[in-house]
Amino acid sequence: TPKVIIDKNEMRRWSRSMRAQGKVIGLVPTMGFLHMGHLSLVAQARSLCDVVVVSIYVNPSQFAPTEDLATYPSDFDGDVKKLTSVPGGVDVVFHPHNLYDYCGESGPGHESWVRVEKLELGLCGNSRPIFFRGVATVVTKLFNIVDPDLAVFGKKDYQQWRIIQRMVRDLDFPVKVIGAEVTRENDGLAMSSRNVHLSPEEREKALSINKSLLRAKSAARDGQVDCEKLRNAVIQSITDAGGRIDYAEIVDQDNLEKVEKIKGPVVFCVAAWFGKVRLIDNMEIN
Ligand code: PAJ
Repeated sequence: TPKVIIDKNEMRRWSRSMRAQGKVIGLVPTMGFLHMGHLSLVAQARSLCDVVVVSIYVNPSQFAPTEDLATYPSDFDGDVKKLTSVPGGVDVVFHPHNLYDYCGESGPGHESWVRVEKLELGLCGNSRPIFFRGVATVVTKLFNIVDPDLAVFGKKDYQQWRIIQRMVRDLDFPVKVIGAEVTRENDGLAMSSRNVHLSPEEREKALSINKSLLRAKSAARDGQVDCEKLRNAVIQSITDAGGRIDYAEIVDQDNLEKVEKIKGPVVFCVAAWFGKVRLIDNMEIN
């Protein structure tokens, strides 16, 4: 079973001693309620590093007041059990109580933010304007505390992955960022901690996201390069299934700028509501 560390100073001491022993340190940041998607990231870190840290922290600064911070699912003991089941296991679970609590004074004292100014604007940034500054800032804090050589992020959260890559490059973090493929349920639904909030009917309807993205990908392979047409088909399918579209955009894989005709590698990104649950998914078209 992994060592559970709550205190950030203890976390830093542990990493320093590993570094002194010449160990390559891997970090997988999560918000817990782990599923096979998270575990696939852990397995990748395991295969690339000597020691692996998984952080479990529901970061309040990436949730707007209207969002689901209070109902975000958690099961810490279950998470530790799942991590024990990964071949090779993990060395440390870093589980801080509050990363914005400075000398007992929480919240108001914090005023420093990391922003990736252009990449944070489109896609999820439109409907969640403070989300990526919260993510970039907490990942910076985790990088500073854990001091990993390598960190693994999922391409399920494509914009998040690109933002972290850009931040690491722009600010010279000595961290190698790995992007891991999306893990899906057998029926194609992208795994997400939020899927537990879907009713059986909503879950069935939500399959329209992956199904329509797969159809778009094969249409593009068959020569359909008009993004307007590809987008309309996806919007139609998801709406017909009872989903409410937040966005459905075809963007350049690197700079996430909108594309009108497919000429190079793009990614088709979708966010849609099913009942009270907002789901995101994407499909790379190469
Ligand atoms: P969370 O949603 O818990 O996701 C943690 C990591 O798991 C992220 O890198 C995410 O992209 C990856 N992940 C989630 N579902 C996946 C799936 N089905 N397939 C592959 N990877 C998947 O993302 C966050 O937490 C937070 O924003 C965080 C980065 C921890 C900062 O608070």
